[in-house]
Amino acid sequence: MSEPTKFILSENDLPKRWYNINADMPVPPNPVLHPGTLEPVTPDFLSVLFPMELIMQEVSTDQYIDIPEEIQEVYKLYRPTPLLRARRLEKALGTPAHIYYKYEGASPVGSHKPNTAIAQAFYNKAAGTKALTTETGAGQWGSALAFAGALFDIAVEVFMVKVSYEQKPYRRILMETYGAEVFASPSPRTQYGAALLKENPDSPGSLGIAISEAVEAAASSEGKKKYSLGSVLGHVLMHQSIIGEEALKQMDLAGEYPDVVISCIGGGSNFAGIAYPFLRHNLKDGKKTRLLAVEPEAAPSLTQGTFAFDYGDTAKMAPIVKMHTLGHSFVPAPIHAGGLRYHGMAPSLCALYDAGYIEAVAVPQVATFEAAVQFARTEGILPAPESAHAIRTAIDEALDAKEKGDKRVILFNLSGHGHFDLAAYEAYHTGKLKDYQYPRKEVETALADLPQVSMPA
Ligand SMILES: Cc1ncc(COP(=O)(O)O)c(C=O)c1O
Repeated sequence: MSEPTKFILSENDLPKRWYNINADMPVPPNPVLHPGTLEPVTPDFLSVLFPMELIMQEVSTDQYIDIPEEIQEVYKLYRPTPLLRARRLEKALGTPAHIYYKYEGASPVGSHKPNTAIAQAFYNKAAGTKALTTETGAGQWGSALAFAGALFDIAVEVFMVKVSYEQKPYRRILMETYGAEVFASPSPRTQYGAALLKENPDSPGSLGIAISEAVEAAASSEGKKKYSLGSVLGHVLMHQSIIGEEALKQMDLAGEYPDVVISCIGGGSNFAGIAYPFLRHNLKDGKKTRLLAVEPEAAPSLTQGTFAFDYGDTAKMAPIVKMHTLGHSFVPAPIHAGGLRYHGMAPSLCALYDAGYIEAVAVPQVATFEAAVQFARTEGILPAPESAHAIRTAIDEALDAKEKGDKRVILFNLSGHGHFDLAAYEAYHTGKLKDYQYPRKEVETALADLPQVSMPA
């Protein structure tokens, strides 16, 4: 009998609880600070931006939080997502390693982002929110929130980084199809955007700027609109834990347990989503799975950033958190993995990296696309440029296992498909894609601008 390729769970196997890393953090948390006073934030400040239920999740130390039935019902549109064994890729590499991948591109919008968008829309609806504002880079997160807004009947305003808005119209059209309004950021719609445009009408925008605009739009709405963030925050990472909880059951079906779990990192949510449930077993049950985060060389927050308090956005309106940062004013090079162009990283992930519980590596753009194309030609799925970072590293691990004659079990998260990223693939095919070295000088300049926070060590 031939060996199975797909490991599929039924709807009844859908996890009923999210996993909250706060309960098991082996290192103490750092406070979240108000961007104006530099003092710890109060729920009052956060409640301007978020509904109370999400604020409570952010600070909760319960190990598990029940997934409301209404959310489970929507998850069933695409969850549980499949886990596959990449047998053809293994064969092409001639590796003794077993490579598994969890496919989050199976969601309606093509990435893991709806796992939290659906939850955030649900809790906002329950709190009476009429409209949500958000930012998006290449458009995956904006599409997810637009989709969730349509399901829960909440208006969605998306500030889309201008360079992507102009270069990638199809994601914008998808968001508009779901009923969202999309603005090129910087936009004249907010005071911050208007001021930036006055200074530089041709500004290409950045994620940090788009976040500032979305935060301003919510904060100045007199309570009518709330803000929604697609990564970085604790509740977002927790909603994504459903990926790892499913993967644990699916690895069990496959009769194996991963030696290494790999995922790309922008703000850290899909990495945390797949890795934290395995980390729980490392911390509680003596497992020794390596947890490996992959970032682009052009925005290497973990491997090159400074572990310090910094603003989450460019205009200094969002809360300050302790994270590995390249500086809130740093604008990364225009790599095609728009979702990885962020200056900072989720605080829990940074604390775990700092304490040695997870590893990180930075990879260059061209080698990342080489891996993406090899994956497409063997496994058939065209990966999102972000997800291709995980594939690059999974292939490198498999080749290392080959060299060492080691039957390593590798699991990576394929966080999304790349059907809207074909221009990037064309640039690769025509030799126009280039690598961007680590921009040491720009980062040094940006780091000089960190907030001066005095905290007991
Ligand atoms: C397909 C895909 N993968 C990964 C990411 C990175 O985000 P995060 O680190 O929050 O998972 C993004 C962000 O937009 C994305 O679109």
